[in-house]
Amino acid sequence: MTQDSDEIDVMVADESHEKYVDTILQTIEDAAKVRGTGIAKRTHEYVAQKMKEGKVIIALKGDEFAGFTYIESWGNKQYVATSGLIVPEKFRHLGIAKRVKHAAFQLARLRWPKAKLFSLTSGSAVMKMNTELGYMPVTFGDLTDDEAFWKGCQGCINHDVLERTGRRYCICTAMLFDPADPRCLMHEELFEVLHKRTEQIRTEMYEKAKEQYAKK
Ligand SMILES: CC(C)(COP(=O)(O)OP(=O)(O)OC[C@H]1O[C@@H](n2cnc3c(N)ncnc32)[C@H](O)[C@@H]1OP(=O)(O)O)[C@@H](O)C(=O)NCCC(=O)NCCS
Repeated sequence: MTQDSDEIDVMVADESHEKYVDTILQTIEDAAKVRGTGIAKRTHEYVAQKMKEGKVIIALKGDEFAGFTYIESWGNKQYVATSGLIVPEKFRHLGIAKRVKHAAFQLARLRWPKAKLFSLTSGSAVMKMNTELGYMPVTFGDLTDDEAFWKGCQGCINHDVLERTGRRYCICTAMLFDPADPRCLMHEELFEVLHKRTEQIRTEMYEKAKEQYAKK
C-alpha cells in the first residue's frame, strides 16, 4: 500500500499517547540492530514521563505510530537536546522525520529560547536535517557537561570510545544550534520561509491533482 504523508498527523504527545511507548522503544531498538550502530537506551517510564511533560513529538496515521522524537533540557536549561528520532520502515521517505524534527525544533525554541540546541547522530539523514535547521558541526567539548545527559550514552555499544577519549570524541557527530550565533538565526529564518512556501506549493499541487482526478 502506498502511504500519503498528508494523512499523517504530527503533534506534541501527552499522557494519552503512553500506549505507543513500547512500540516506539521496540522500533528504535530494531532500527539500531539493522544499522549496527549504538543507541542510548531509554525505559518505558522515562519516555512516558517525557510525554507527560510535553516534551515528545509523535506522528500518527490514525491510531498507528509513524514517528517520534523528544527534547530535554540539560545543564541548568542552557542546553536542549533533541533525541531518539525514529520513523518506522513502512513510513520512511515521506518527509515524516523532517516534520517531526521541525516540530521538535520549534517546541524547543519556544520553551527555551536562549538555550543552545544540540544533537548527537551517526546518521546522514539527521545531519542533513540539522544543517537545514541551522545546526553546525561542533566538537563534544562544545556540548553540555551535564553528567545526567552523558549517562544516557552508557547503554550505547560505542560507550567505551567515549570513555577512552575522556568524552572528547565518539562515533556520533555533534551538532549545535546556538541562538547567539547570527548564522544559526539566519538559517532558522530561511528554513521557516522555505518550509511555508513548500507547504503552500504542496497544498496547491494536491488540490490540483484532486481536481484532475475528479474529472476522470
Ligand atoms: C533517519 C530516519 C528518521 C529518516 O526518516 P524519514 O521519515 O524517512 O526521513 P524524511 O523522509 O523526512 O527525509 C529527511 C531527509 O533525510 C534524507 N534521508 C532519509 N533517509 C535517508 C537515508 N537513509 N540516508 C540518507 N539520507 C536520507 C531524505 O532524502 C531527506 O532529505 P532531503 O529533504 O534533502 O531529500 C529513518 O530512516 C529512521 O528512523 N532510521 C532509523 C533510526 C535512525 O537512524 N534515527 C536517527 C538516529 S540519530
